Amino acid sequence: MNAIVPINQDKKRKGLIGTVRTVASKTPKGMIPRIRRPQFEFAENDLPRYWWDNNPVKTLLLAAMSAGFPPGERFFIDSVRHYEKQITDPELKKAIKGFIGQEAHHSREHEMLNGFLQERGVDLARLENEILGFMNWMRKHLSPERQLAHTVAVEHFTALMAEEFLLKYDALDEMDPRMAPVWAWHAIEESEHKAVAFDVYRAVGGSEFARVTEMMLVSVLFPLFTSVHLVQLMKEDGQLTNMKAWGSTLNYMWGKPGVFRKLLPSYFKFYSPRFHPWNHDARDLVEKATQKWLGDWS
Ligand SMILES: [Fe+2]
Ligand SMILES: [Fe+2]
Repeated sequence: MNAIVPINQDKKRKGLIGTVRTVASKTPKGMIPRIRRPQFEFAENDLPRYWWDNNPVKTLLLAAMSAGFPPGERFFIDSVRHYEKQITDPELKKAIKGFIGQEAHHSREHEMLNGFLQERGVDLARLENEILGFMNWMRKHLSPERQLAHTVAVEHFTALMAEEFLLKYDALDEMDPRMAPVWAWHAIEESEHKAVAFDVYRAVGGSEFARVTEMMLVSVLFPLFTSVHLVQLMKEDGQLTNMKAWGSTLNYMWGKPGVFRKLLPSYFKFYSPRFHPWNHDARDLVEKATQKWLGDWS
């Protein structure tokens, strides 16, 4: 198993040190990501093998993404933490703490979930190790600015997936009720902290060039990694030729309701110089989902 390597501290690569600015943010006042401490139990032997809509493609797609969360979220934390000391705005300082706390819990719970799925024969350990290898390459070779730009881009992806896919449509209702809460919780918190990395990036003077070009790279690499991993998992599960499952998933994503197709306009807004994650306010959706899925510990 790969070990995490520390973020590159090469002086020449620091670039943005000493350029902290106070920048007007569109993040709503008092929007501090709240650190919840859920302890999900993943021990249900009678959980259906395909726990989302009894569909192997949908289920293994989420499993493939889950494999990337522990190494990915540790990378996001470190890329933001690198600049934490330079931030002077007290609201943003608190938001950083909330962001780090939330992502740390996501990483932990998804590690448990991945371990549970591994025991059920879904080989996520190999996928996780591959993604960790890629993250380590970025830690070694990219500047801290570029690493933070990567986090900003992926956080836009995760906010889109959370708000305009998991919380908006029936995905959570279609999942086994023992599996839905962990995805609801993660989606809710991704929406709550969606602007933290962006606000830090702006405050430390991150360039528009790095932000936009990093999104272009992420837009190729994220779907590519995920698709390759999905195909591998489908093959290992003997489902590669299950055309019914592929067809209904493709229709769900790109046809009707076309959840991916419908989030494209929001995706493209990232490329505007006026982009801010809170230009899209999904607090109503998040509030409803919190009441429905998190109940007492919300
Ligand atoms: Fe997360
Ligand atoms: Fe996140």
